[in-house]
Amino acid sequence: MQALIAKFKEAGQGQVFQFFDQLDDSGQERLLAQAASIDLDELSGLVQEHVFSESHCALDLEGLEPAPYIALPSNEASATEWERAFQTGAEAIRAGRVAAFTVAGGQGTRLGYDGPKGTYPVTPLSKKSLFQVFAEKILRSGERFGVTLPWFILTSEINHAATIAAFEENAYFGLPPESVHFIVQGLVPAVDLEGKILLSRQDSIAMTPDGHGGALRALVRSGAVDTMKANGVDIVSYFQVDNPIVQCVDPAFIGFHVLGQSELSSKMVPKAYALEKVGHFCTQDGVTKVIEYSDMPTAMQEETTLDGELRFKAGSVAIHVFDRDFIARVGGDGLDLKLPFHRANKKIPCVDAAGAQVNPEQPNGVKFEMFVFDALPLAANPVIIEAVRGDDFSPVKNAAGLDSPQTCKEDQLRMFAHWLKAAGVEIDTDDSGLPGITFEISPRFAADEKDFVARWSALSTKPEISDGTTIE
Ligand code: UTP
Repeated sequence: MQALIAKFKEAGQGQVFQFFDQLDDSGQERLLAQAASIDLDELSGLVQEHVFSESHCALDLEGLEPAPYIALPSNEASATEWERAFQTGAEAIRAGRVAAFTVAGGQGTRLGYDGPKGTYPVTPLSKKSLFQVFAEKILRSGERFGVTLPWFILTSEINHAATIAAFEENAYFGLPPESVHFIVQGLVPAVDLEGKILLSRQDSIAMTPDGHGGALRALVRSGAVDTMKANGVDIVSYFQVDNPIVQCVDPAFIGFHVLGQSELSSKMVPKAYALEKVGHFCTQDGVTKVIEYSDMPTAMQEETTLDGELRFKAGSVAIHVFDRDFIARVGGDGLDLKLPFHRANKKIPCVDAAGAQVNPEQPNGVKFEMFVFDALPLAANPVIIEAVRGDDFSPVKNAAGLDSPQTCKEDQLRMFAHWLKAAGVEIDTDDSGLPGITFEISPRFAADEKDFVARWSALSTKPEISDGTTIE
């Protein structure tokens, strides 16, 4: 114990123990356990690089080009290519090579919902939670291809117990419990603007999850990568917990990944407008990378080609397919292949030097996070494919406005309506494709449009679609 405290003092972080003598036994134990989990060398490097220097500011834009991508099928040749990818992906799924992977370790502060974000009720009619929607899609995809798909879910210590409780209370939403694997991501201490570790309480360090990029090292450290290897899984379908319309396991996407011998594949959607707040897929000196909207000059984001299209139009929607051995390399302890940390200034509730609780109104500290797309430049043969936004991307980020429960509900309704139209059913919609009625297609019935059209066509009696209908 004394050795640990001395190490913190030596590192200039002695304030962590400033209330130690006044704590009861359990408080002291808690603080010591947290302190022991901190990698002080890593933290001191982060503070040097991100708090005391401005090195992260200048982004080199020299030679930056839009990254090439595989466009949606627009003619017979490309339709054949997509069909081949679908068959290749389907074969990989059937062979048991594919696992689904959801990152759900974030704090979801913008939504302001009390509980793990995956338990947020999201479907228009039956109010299924995000976790239930994914579970049912995974169940349906397994059924479609005759396998039990393993599902890995990233949590953080902050929401781990509540996440498991939600699955247990709901009998794993029909999935075999042994096919669901929870893994806990790492936490990093938050520091103040002088690089000093903050206390959230007198007996507790302000720890925050290490970002979605932390998923890769968590997969390695938890042994999940070994479990995958032991079970013949080498393709990992990655998506975020806040996006209920994502195709959790997309055969064509997986097929392009396999055919391209890619270590990391990504979906892009054309930006809805020039300054949309998404990352941009780019290449630079032959390396593929995502440049955040905040790092790209406005003029570049608005640049158009001769035919009037946005030049940098490929927006990242955080949907990827990873090669398992690539995760093992990037998430492992090798020094050369580490994801960088980024700095975010945040309002971090903490105790002040006198021990009083402070709820700051302005950012008072720094949080360190890794981003999963930083793995892209490290990957061999990265593949990027175009996705239909309405079939893959409508996240719930904010309580109201853009990317909120309301916009997501409407996007789900648009998606259901256009699946019905694709199956030849007439349904009234406005110009944006939004139907005037509220209904639902259960993910247990179909996981995507192609699946829906096939199953709908096979129904001998088709249900009437009206307000309140659920197709299941
Ligand atoms: P966001 O960037 O939206 O962050 O995460 P967030 O923490 O969920 O929400 P805010 O910013 O506090 O409102 C995108 C995805 O990455 C996961 C989230 O759970 C979400 O699925 N994530 C984020 C993690 O798994 N771990 C993290 O440390 C951060």
